[in-house]
Formats: sequence, structure tokens, C-alpha cells
Amino acid sequence: MIEIHKSAADFARQKYDVLVPTMGALHAGHESLIKIGKSSGKKVLVSIFINPLQFENKNDLENYPKSVEKDLALAESAGADGIFIPSKEEIYPGKVDEVSAGELGEIYEGKSRPSHFNGVLTVVKRLFEISSPRMAVFGEKDFQQLFLIKKMVKEYGLPIEISAAPTIRDEFGLALSSRNMFLDIDQKKSAQVLFRTLQKSSIDEMKQEIKNEPNFKLDYLEIINEESFLKADKSTRYKRGIIAGWINQVRLIDNMQVSFTS
Ligand code: PAF
Repeated sequence: MIEIHKSAADFARQKYDVLVPTMGALHAGHESLIKIGKSSGKKVLVSIFINPLQFENKNDLENYPKSVEKDLALAESAGADGIFIPSKEEIYPGKVDEVSAGELGEIYEGKSRPSHFNGVLTVVKRLFEISSPRMAVFGEKDFQQLFLIKKMVKEYGLPIEISAAPTIRDEFGLALSSRNMFLDIDQKKSAQVLFRTLQKSSIDEMKQEIKNEPNFKLDYLEIINEESFLKADKSTRYKRGIIAGWINQVRLIDNMQVSFTS
């Protein structure tokens, strides 16, 4: 039976090895993170906390999907041993010690969502402090987030292994995201443009693919160096295409390894 924790005080008695931080509204993508955690053979804790610090838009925060009962069932069936559902006061008692994501937190996602990554790093560090895991699992779908969390762990010398989970997609290639529930059937079809774009073999082909989908409003498309998050060049070993934009008001992001820079 999965254990439900509401308070950080519980972790003095109860030790978990693996943390899977989430904001709830769990789907098959989260299920895969929990299963990766569980495959280590260790005790897995899933946290559910809708972190106000990482929402630059109040509406987005208020409308963030919530499905606690369903989340509990999914976490348990995926093999989680515990679930942590803290209050805001539990996570941020008193003055918040904000972590800065630095300049790399101000480009791409960070440019469109100012202070978003400071909020993400602040809550992740707090969750690490509370639950002291030896490993934490994050999805590759939020590739810039994953990059910045790994960087933070290195800079603070935290003894935590960060495990990266491959993106889970639906049968048409759309990356699973809690935001997909805001798309109707036609919009979901339009959203497949992100996956199709990332499968092209040059920037020109990518741009053409985006032009062919008028319902998608592009924010950025770039080939970056996975090791620095800066723009890739010919000498870059590991290159990744990153893309973001909107269908109607719904923000969508995706990424994939590629072998070209132009
Ligand atoms: O990826 C998410 O769901 C959130 O950004 C995270 C890592 C749980 C922090 O709130």
C-alpha cells in the first residue's frame, strides 16, 4: 500500500532512495519516470506540488490541472512506495531562498517565461533537502529544465544522481504533457507538427514543415549543443533540436537528438 505524506517531518522516520518530483496530473510520461526509479530496486517517492514560483502567469497557475485521486492510483500501480503532497507552507516556510538559474535560464524557455527556471530550481532544491534522495528522475521532454537541474546539482555539490527519462509520445508522436488535455481533437492533430519538424534533416526543411501548419505559432526553433545548451556548430558532438510554440493559448515544447546544425 502506498504511503501518503503531507509533512516533511515524516522523512526523519521514512527513508526514500529515489525522488520523482511532479506537479500532479500524472500521465504515462510520469509513469515511465516512476518505473525508471523503481527499476533501481529502491524505494521511490513521488512528490506532487504545484509550485507557484515557476508560474509567471497567474491564470496558468490557477488552471493547472488537478487529479489527486487518479494520481495516487497511477503512482501506486507504477510501483511508487510513497507520495508526498506538501502544503505551500511546508515547502516555503518563511523567506524563500531562491536559486538562480543564471544566464542559461534566461534563454529559450526562460526568455518566454521569465523567472520560470529560478522557480523550478528553487523547488527542486527544497524537495531534495526535505527528502534527501540518492537519485531523482526527470523527463527529457523538459530538456532545458533537465540541463539546469544537472548543472545545479553539480554547482551545489549535491550527492544526487540525476536520471534522464526518454520522452513518451502518443501514437502520432505528440510528446505527452499535462497541457495536452487543453487541446481539442483538431488542435491535437495540429500539435503533431512539433514531432514532424524534429524528424527533418535540415533547418530549412524544419522551417518549411512549421509553415505548413498555420495553427502553430512558433516561439523558437534551434539546434543546440546538449553539453552547453548554446547554439550548436559543426564541431558539436551531441546536437539536439529544440522547439516551442503555441496552439491557440496552449504552450507546447519538444526536442530530439539530431545530426545537423543547418
Ligand atoms: O517538470 C515538472 O513537473 C516541474 O517543473 C517540477 C520538476 C516537478 C518542479 O516543480
